[in-house]
Amino acid sequence: MSLTKVISFANNKGGSGKTTTCSNVGCALSMLGKRVLMIDGDMQLNLTISYFDEDTALGFAKSGKNILAAVKEERDLGEYVVPTRFEGLDMVTSSSLMSGIEFELFPKWQREFVLSKCLEPVKARGTYDYILIDAPPTLGGWVMNILCASDDVVIPVEASPWGLFGLANMFDFISQAKRLAPRMEILGIAVTKADERKKYFKQTLETLKGLEQTRMFENYIRVDSAIEWSQDSSCPVVAYKKTSRSAVEYSNLTKEIMKYADR
Ligand SMILES: Nc1ncnc2c1ncn2[C@@H]1O[C@H](COP(=O)(O)OP(=O)(O)OP(=O)(O)O)[C@@H](O)[C@H]1O
Ligand SMILES: [Mg+2]
Repeated sequence: MSLTKVISFANNKGGSGKTTTCSNVGCALSMLGKRVLMIDGDMQLNLTISYFDEDTALGFAKSGKNILAAVKEERDLGEYVVPTRFEGLDMVTSSSLMSGIEFELFPKWQREFVLSKCLEPVKARGTYDYILIDAPPTLGGWVMNILCASDDVVIPVEASPWGLFGLANMFDFISQAKRLAPRMEILGIAVTKADERKKYFKQTLETLKGLEQTRMFENYIRVDSAIEWSQDSSCPVVAYKKTSRSAVEYSNLTKEIMKYADR
């Protein structure tokens, strides 16, 4: 059995903190000595530009060394890996042509499992302790592939009125994926962009705590401008400014994610 844990960060609600959470959890895991591969599954290239400057990211997108090419060619994902500047932290970058991925997947044999099969040889080699996948804000064949390739799913939810709207659709979609990939579990909800001064925040927490389908992680992430500065410098906040509030919160969330993922 593979010891590599595959964790995806998914929520069809845009701007819920998927990429920020994926990039920081990935970096925090590597800082704890874990070997990590991150996969940018979104045409916005946000995970890619969390680590590389825009020119480098666009270079990867055009080079054919990216997730779209791997899925199109149905090859070992290890052939598409690029190193980041952090030890033990690698990435398969995204492509700006990712919108075409649904058309690529559609005619393929067992089309929900194309990514899963690309990951098999990587897992079999045991190169990584964790593979983290950043999903786009959609619910379709590609996100189904991401879920079917995952052991665990983390759902980042923005602590705002609209952050909760539509969450039921996400749970329904995950239930459909679970019929195809029964071992996949929701690991938990990660609350992001929290503002404790707002009355609404407490209500959001109570609602999420009361959900039957899943746990809410105890460590939530508050609004912090250090995150935007870190993203402007193509460096996750846990490495950019270790003492910042969000860096500490993301480090604690990472430990909580590890605790449940390694169960
Ligand atoms: N804790 C935070 N404090 C301040 N800003 C934040 C925080 N978390 C995320 N952001 C900002 O919110 C925006 C959305 O975050 P992010 O890109 O991580 O969400 P997403 O779910 O990946 O979005 P998409 O659905 O477009 O992929 C970004 O501009 C990011 O800088
Ligand atoms: Mg994103």
